[in-house]
Amino acid sequence: MKRLKFLFTAFLTALLTITLVTACNSGTSTSGGGAGRTLTMATSADYPPYEFIDTSSGSQEIVGFDVDIAKFITEKLGYELKIDNVDFNALIPTLQSKRADFVMAGMTPTEERKQNVDFSQIYYEAKNAIVAKTGAGLATVASLNGKTLGVQLGSIQEQAAKDFQGANVKALNRINEMIQELKAGRIDAILMEDTVAKGYIASNPDLEINVLPNEGEAGSAVAFPKGSELLGEFDPIISELKSSGELEKLINKWFGSDTPAA
Ligand code: ARG
Repeated sequence: MKRLKFLFTAFLTALLTITLVTACNSGTSTSGGGAGRTLTMATSADYPPYEFIDTSSGSQEIVGFDVDIAKFITEKLGYELKIDNVDFNALIPTLQSKRADFVMAGMTPTEERKQNVDFSQIYYEAKNAIVAKTGAGLATVASLNGKTLGVQLGSIQEQAAKDFQGANVKALNRINEMIQELKAGRIDAILMEDTVAKGYIASNPDLEINVLPNEGEAGSAVAFPKGSELLGEFDPIISELKSSGELEKLINKWFGSDTPAA
């Protein structure tokens, strides 16, 4: 009888331990089980309408298309969201050193990046464009021969520009630095994404945009540290965003209705 009682107590203790351990781990493993754990998203908030600092409210809050998607996903999964603003070129190292749980930064899932981080499905497609002074006649890749072309350091545009015959490539950290360099005449043109260029051009009538035909890798996806379990949690919610029409709503909100979804 005594032995039975002992076995029973041992069994109960074991059960309790398992329950406690499972409860503590659920934030990292099961879908919908975020349990209030905070996820850190890293981004480069120089990329309206994807992510930018909202100066109008005086709060310096980071807002945009990516932020709305991140909020939707983390809320659905029961996580709190914290956003860190770092240079675009530092985003992948930030994931590799686990200083962030995921990156949303209009980031394109390239083969090269896939060696260092994992990507979700693509949630939005985009094109490249040349931005130059109005009337400069820089509308095609061929016209950039002998010209100095600004690109964001570490971006797919930097990679693409290096393949343009005869163009001198100048890589800078932030998009607004490139716009300043262009206006000051220190570079002749910028290679950047069309939708983002539109926003910058709206406030700079002396600049014009020429959209290039799509070639190579394009589109945006969420990036995670290699092997992160979050990928398996995020991807179904992205599918849900697409099928429910919620993504289309966010695209209309941030890009206007003329821009197609991924
Ligand atoms: N789509 C391009 C890339 O992945 C540019 C993204 C730049 N993003 C930013 N937040 N500045 O390389």
